[in-house]
Amino acid sequence: MKDKKHYCDVLIIGSGIAGLSTAINLCESGLNVILITKAKNIEESNTLYAQGGIVTLGKDDSPRLLAQDIIDAGDGISNPLAVELVTKEGTKLVEDFLIKKVSVQFSKSSEKAYDYAQEGSHSRRRVLYWRDETGKAIEVGLSKRVKEYKNIRIFTDYSAIDLLTIPHHSVNPITIYREPQCIGAYVLNNVEERVERIFAQYTVLASGGLGRIYLHTTNPPGATGDGFAMARRAGARIINMEYVQFHPTSLFHKDADGFLISEAVRGEGARLKTKSGETFMEKYSPLKDLAPRDEVSRAIYEEMHQRGDNYVYLDISNYSEVDIKERFPNIYSRCLSLGIDITKEPIPVVPAAHYICGGVQVDTWGRSSIKNLYAVGEVSGTGLHGANRLASTSLLEGLVWGIRAARHIADNFEDDKPYKESEILPWIYPEMEEEADPALILQDWLSIKSIMWNYVGIIRTLKRLERGVADLSYLKNRIEDFYKKAHLTPTIVSLRNGIQTALIVAEFALRNRKSRGAHFIKSTT
Ligand code: SIN
Repeated sequence: MKDKKHYCDVLIIGSGIAGLSTAINLCESGLNVILITKAKNIEESNTLYAQGGIVTLGKDDSPRLLAQDIIDAGDGISNPLAVELVTKEGTKLVEDFLIKKVSVQFSKSSEKAYDYAQEGSHSRRRVLYWRDETGKAIEVGLSKRVKEYKNIRIFTDYSAIDLLTIPHHSVNPITIYREPQCIGAYVLNNVEERVERIFAQYTVLASGGLGRIYLHTTNPPGATGDGFAMARRAGARIINMEYVQFHPTSLFHKDADGFLISEAVRGEGARLKTKSGETFMEKYSPLKDLAPRDEVSRAIYEEMHQRGDNYVYLDISNYSEVDIKERFPNIYSRCLSLGIDITKEPIPVVPAAHYICGGVQVDTWGRSSIKNLYAVGEVSGTGLHGANRLASTSLLEGLVWGIRAARHIADNFEDDKPYKESEILPWIYPEMEEEADPALILQDWLSIKSIMWNYVGIIRTLKRLERGVADLSYLKNRIEDFYKKAHLTPTIVSLRNGIQTALIVAEFALRNRKSRGAHFIKSTT
């Protein structure tokens, strides 16, 4: 009974916009799908918390203009194929899939016309939004829809432990001569704390980002970098992991836990100010407060550092024409609950880790370097974002690649199993399982987060990066030793992934000596 097995055509790991778009399109094609999430409900994901919106073509806009903005924000190293795909196909997919099929609502300026928001580095107003809860509107719509299909099984409270691959997990020595292939995953049933195997013809990683490996982040607790670590252990190619985007404005308050103050707030006119009330972005960029995120985050860091302040202010109360309570109801009420009335006073903010621009390298269909393994959404490295992501492009990237990965799998589906199930290793439990000490786990996480924040953060130096890699390597070995003996719990699975992903980011950052976009190395000589 310990070795429970499940079978499906396609396994999807993760339930944000990318995972759910993949799932819905696969279900429509008649394939059998299992979708797992480590959360207790499928809505819980980075998507749920996205405030700003989803980029489309606005009025007086064109694919060429949008492409140029993406490339400029990405500091010139975006993948041209990915940029072309998103700018030419994105708007239609939003209309056909999100609006027509899933009935997601976006804010309108009149009964017939959508309103478009402005965000940093966009040369046009082109971001579709729903108040300041766009992600929630999308996520709730998709989750409702996906539950209508009979050919999907949704396993909540299941953590993916490792991708099942051959030859790695096969006892048949002859499989070594085959091209490496993903055949599913070992997963932890979090409630029963038992490992199960899911056998799948195709596997789609849609496990989101890694913000929680940093001390300060806008990301929810689940964003521990699981997919990057799993893909690395399986031998998949990973790119651009040094480009961690810091969002310039997360709420500075002891009880805020990285609550995001959307870039759309600056899009509606808000200005950044020092604690003593002076605006400062004009010193750093001709685009002022709407400069790319990497530049704004560094400017804030610099101002805080020069003045010895631990936050700056974002002031919308004196600058905006919009009805603040109506346009930003979520931000307004959260701030008010913490004693800040944003219609009357400035908001204390600091930068926080927000988005990883790199990931598991995929082509324009979402195919990774491992056969039958796809990656979509933040865990993937499509190359769209280059060295720094343009605001509100991530939901669209998740949607475009989610739909395309599903189409590609459905159009090329092959039901051949190049292995006998009896050749695939069941999970091997340690003889004497050790229980984890919560105090040690807490301290390990604190170490990872502060190493990443201080040594692999907004401003990096060679010395900090070297120290970061050394400290993380030591920690990784210690955690791995413990993992091999431990009674597995979701906490241990994510700690192991968190440390491995942190080390991946630190190693990429150390290897790349050129400052570009979100990867900034300050010379200390
Ligand atoms: C925001 O609302 O500022 C976040 C949107 C994004 O990260 O693209």
